[in-house]
Amino acid sequence: MDIPLHIIILAAGDGTRMKSRLPKVLHPVGGRPMLAWVLDTAAALQPDGIHVVFNPETPEVQTVSTEARVNWVPQAERLGTGHAVQQAIPAIPRAARVLVLYGDIPLLQADTLRSLLALDEALGVLTMSLENPAGYGRVLRDADGRVRAVVEDRDADETQRRISEVNTGIIVADARGLRGWLDRLHTENSQGEYYLTDIFVLAADDETAIGSVLAVDPEEMQGVNDRVQLAATEARHRKLAAERLMRDGVQIVDPRRFDLRGKIRAGCDVRIDINVVLEGDIRLGEGVAIGPGCVLRDCDLAAGTRVHPYSVLEGVQTLGACDIGPFARLRPGTVLGAGAKVGNFVEVKNVQIGAGTKASHLSYLGDATIGDGVNIGAGTITCNYDGVNKHRTIIENDVFIGSDTQLVAPVTVGKGADIGAGSTITRDVPEGKLTLSRSKQVTVPGWRRPKKDA
Ligand code: UD1
Ligand code: MG
Repeated sequence: MDIPLHIIILAAGDGTRMKSRLPKVLHPVGGRPMLAWVLDTAAALQPDGIHVVFNPETPEVQTVSTEARVNWVPQAERLGTGHAVQQAIPAIPRAARVLVLYGDIPLLQADTLRSLLALDEALGVLTMSLENPAGYGRVLRDADGRVRAVVEDRDADETQRRISEVNTGIIVADARGLRGWLDRLHTENSQGEYYLTDIFVLAADDETAIGSVLAVDPEEMQGVNDRVQLAATEARHRKLAAERLMRDGVQIVDPRRFDLRGKIRAGCDVRIDINVVLEGDIRLGEGVAIGPGCVLRDCDLAAGTRVHPYSVLEGVQTLGACDIGPFARLRPGTVLGAGAKVGNFVEVKNVQIGAGTKASHLSYLGDATIGDGVNIGAGTITCNYDGVNKHRTIIENDVFIGSDTQLVAPVTVGKGADIGAGSTITRDVPEGKLTLSRSKQVTVPGWRRPKKDA
């Protein structure tokens, strides 16, 4: 088809019912601003232009997309949906088709819009049928079933209010016709606004045929006006995300207790236990198992990795099957070699841990390079911070570090070295030898415990 397509996204509304300082379209669904989802859907239709109408008092809305092809159109005053479209239309060629979307309907799918775009008429509307249509514009049809007008809830009479078919707000129109109808909008209505929906009666009066598509699933059109609807939309997103993953072979123990706030790629036989939150960019190799209560952000876990309950991982990469947790805290820059084990109450940051290395209990490992086959005893701490700068600890292959050791960085522990428990290591440790720094154990003869004063 050679008619250019331009998409206008309305995102300037005040969103007062959210009662938030954050502009409504920046509220996240599935970890991303609502507007980002709408922009993705718009982009999927490969339009010739995307125009986002926004409120210039909240310029931060523009951070959602840095793409040059998005045309940000300020609407200085919110005078209604018709006024919003009026701001964007001058930038759109007359020969184009225009699709109007809302920035606060995040789950709308491109396929639904394709069915609307398939209409031949110069004006078309996506409608839905609701058991409780209160608040929405009602679709009025003539005796032949043709769309005649859309009347807003607040302007409708009793009979009209009983109509269950409503305007989703999503419309498609030829730019030429749309310009003409927009020029004729007025504010003689209960809200004193320029209603976009008035174009229907104007088009019908011009004897322009109006097409319509009835949406199969009204939940997809769920708009977000308040936080109750935001939660409902999040729940639907969660459900859809879980279903998609399960169809792709991921086992989700309870889809109602699973949250995806980002993107995920998962191999087969991945198992996700209850109350797991996945954020950012997540890759899980075949057979990865995530225990209950884990939170993962931006992680890339190799096949066979097991994350035991209540572990929190951010920016972690595993290079082979590893064991993590329970209760592990792995921070950005953690890379674990195959067969590594990071156990309970171990915090790791900016550390490469070699294959088969174990830090099973109660440690802080920060800014370190740790070789293969190393054993890190319980309570080992890398003292990486001198109060001003961070320093690195290097632990070579096959080192054994006794419990309760402090490694004061910068320091290197040579290959195959042993460090006695309770040592404070301030200088480099030679290869293959036992090093310890510990005051000698003494027993004091004749010692008596003090007695309580009478
Ligand atoms: C609108 C429709 C109604 C439809 C409903 C579906 C009109 C007059 N009414 O009503 O028929 O059933 O959506 O949800 O169109 N916006 C701007 N600038 C403005 C006003 C609004 O950008 O000056 C944006 C809002 O951010 C929002 C969208 O337009 O994304 C819809 O505005 P809203 O005020 O929510 O319209 P409704 O009263 O819900
Ligand atoms: Mg609305």
